[in-house]
Amino acid sequence: MSQDQAKPARLLEGKRALITGARKGIGRGIALTLAREGAHVGINDIVDDEVTQNTRKLIEAMGVRSSVHEGDVSQLDGIESVVDGFVKTQGGIDILVNNAIFPDQSCPLFDTDEAYWDRMMNLSLKGYFFAAQRAARHMVDAGSGGRIVCLSSVHAYDAWKNWTAYGVAKAGLRRMVKGLAVDLHGTGVTANCIAPGAIANALPDDGSSVNGAPIDMESAGDFMERVPTQRGGLPTDIANAVLYLTSDMGSYVNGETILVDGGLIAAAE
Ligand SMILES: NC(=O)c1ccc[n+]([C@@H]2O[C@H](COP(=O)([O-])OP(=O)(O)OC[C@H]3O[C@@H](n4cnc5c(N)ncnc54)[C@H](O)[C@@H]3O)[C@@H](O)[C@H]2O)c1
Repeated sequence: MSQDQAKPARLLEGKRALITGARKGIGRGIALTLAREGAHVGINDIVDDEVTQNTRKLIEAMGVRSSVHEGDVSQLDGIESVVDGFVKTQGGIDILVNNAIFPDQSCPLFDTDEAYWDRMMNLSLKGYFFAAQRAARHMVDAGSGGRIVCLSSVHAYDAWKNWTAYGVAKAGLRRMVKGLAVDLHGTGVTANCIAPGAIANALPDDGSSVNGAPIDMESAGDFMERVPTQRGGLPTDIANAVLYLTSDMGSYVNGETILVDGGLIAAAE
């Protein structure tokens, strides 16, 4: 058997994938999983620090190209410079994963002021839309199709106390990918969401692992008791779903949102 025959083909060989907010957490898990399958990966984040650079090194260790595109993807000028910078560096774009989020995602009703609302919508709805539009423009011009994946959430389905603004944005993304799928009719570009449940996003101190520490079932209390799969989710659980959507395996899925939540929403219904 020749060496070529012995080596299984990687699912994303040579594809070029830009992932927003990929310095840590789920985005980092997605970046490393797509790189393992042969994709050249651009890391966008609002922060370029030691953690970002470590993620870049881990991607390059898989024998693919990696680039860092520091920028704020809640602003139009940031989106343009990040997407266009990626296209310039990598020679095109095949995959966009809209994943960035800021840390304070929950906010009590009467503390939700206009500034907080705008910050949430600017990143999680407006930013995801215009990044998708910009990436789709390049994909359509190149004429070889593409994949857009947005990170929604279980909060798009059910309401938990103090999560209204976040939930509205995440629910909007479910509708947004339907619209993108229809608007991109016949272009070969698909648009879908992944809706995660409770996923560990804290990395070990040395930043060496794809996954954070598993969510502690006991400290999560009642919430985790409702998860039929009876464990916290890991970045790789989400990354594997993104891999499905961005590889040939997911080529007939379009305008859809896939829950990856251990059955949390099924249990709530
Ligand atoms: N962790 C969970 O349990 C969970 C559950 C459901 C959905 N999600 C979704 O998954 C995605 C990733 O979540 P996570 O928990 O891994 O997040 P995280 O906080 O671990 O990482 C988010 C990254 O986004 C970056 N970022 C923040 N603002 C940015 C901006 N304006 N421009 C560019 N980068 C920016 C941050 O610096 C950070 O590195 C988010 O869309 C989140 O809503 C997460």
